[in-house]
Amino acid sequence: MRNSMEQVTARDLEYLESLHPRLAAVFAKMDEQGAREDIPIVGTSVGRALGVLVRAIGARRIVEVGTAIGYSALWMALALPKEGRLITIDPDRARTDRARAYWTEAGVGDRIEVRNGKGLEELPKLRGPFDLAFIDALKPEYEGYLAAVLPLLRSGGTVAVDNLLWGGRASGAVAADDESTNAIRSFNKKFVRHDLLDAIIIPVGDGLGIGVKR
Ligand SMILES: C[S@@+](CC[C@H](N)C(=O)[O-])C[C@H]1O[C@@H](n2cnc3c(N)ncnc32)[C@H](O)[C@@H]1O
Repeated sequence: MRNSMEQVTARDLEYLESLHPRLAAVFAKMDEQGAREDIPIVGTSVGRALGVLVRAIGARRIVEVGTAIGYSALWMALALPKEGRLITIDPDRARTDRARAYWTEAGVGDRIEVRNGKGLEELPKLRGPFDLAFIDALKPEYEGYLAAVLPLLRSGGTVAVDNLLWGGRASGAVAADDESTNAIRSFNKKFVRHDLLDAIIIPVGDGLGIGVKR
């Protein structure tokens, strides 16, 4: 049960976003391209939360599943120290090439390595430990990504997962019974009760899961 303190409105969210300084121009370009080409990228608040998370846990090595045009990766890379590294996985070379141009423009290209392949095939090839993993690719594969990233995370490392509210479909606020919705519902139950995690799903953006490895 939730308590009576949780009463966030859309206006509250706009107010909170308005407090922050204007974003660098490169973010606006990415937002504009994402909207124009219907490329799903994390919400601004999720990007901001990821950046703060990177700083909060002092992350130096990050792995991401689902690069697209590099928006979430840019938030995380900007929060890394200069010698920090982020490996990001996406089979779509056309998208990751555009991501690379944005990262270069933002001055963090040298912190990011792309693996053009499928998450479930690329993750087992990586060597840990990583401080942070971010999952944001195929919803029916979320449970597989989690199983593959957990052994790569250091103890006390964090896994973050996007889209766990799935546009209202996870809770049933928006009626849906498709494969991705059912996969997210199943994932959510397992994520918050996982034996190896202390986890929560916070209502930021489209629902951001954060789990700390025990
Ligand atoms: C939601 S987008 C990622 C958005 C990105 N994290 C951001 O916020 O900027 C999902 C991406 O997953 C990629 N993808 C599709 N199949 C994949 C797979 N098997 N493994 C990893 N990524 C995959 C798609 O090409 C797409 O670019």
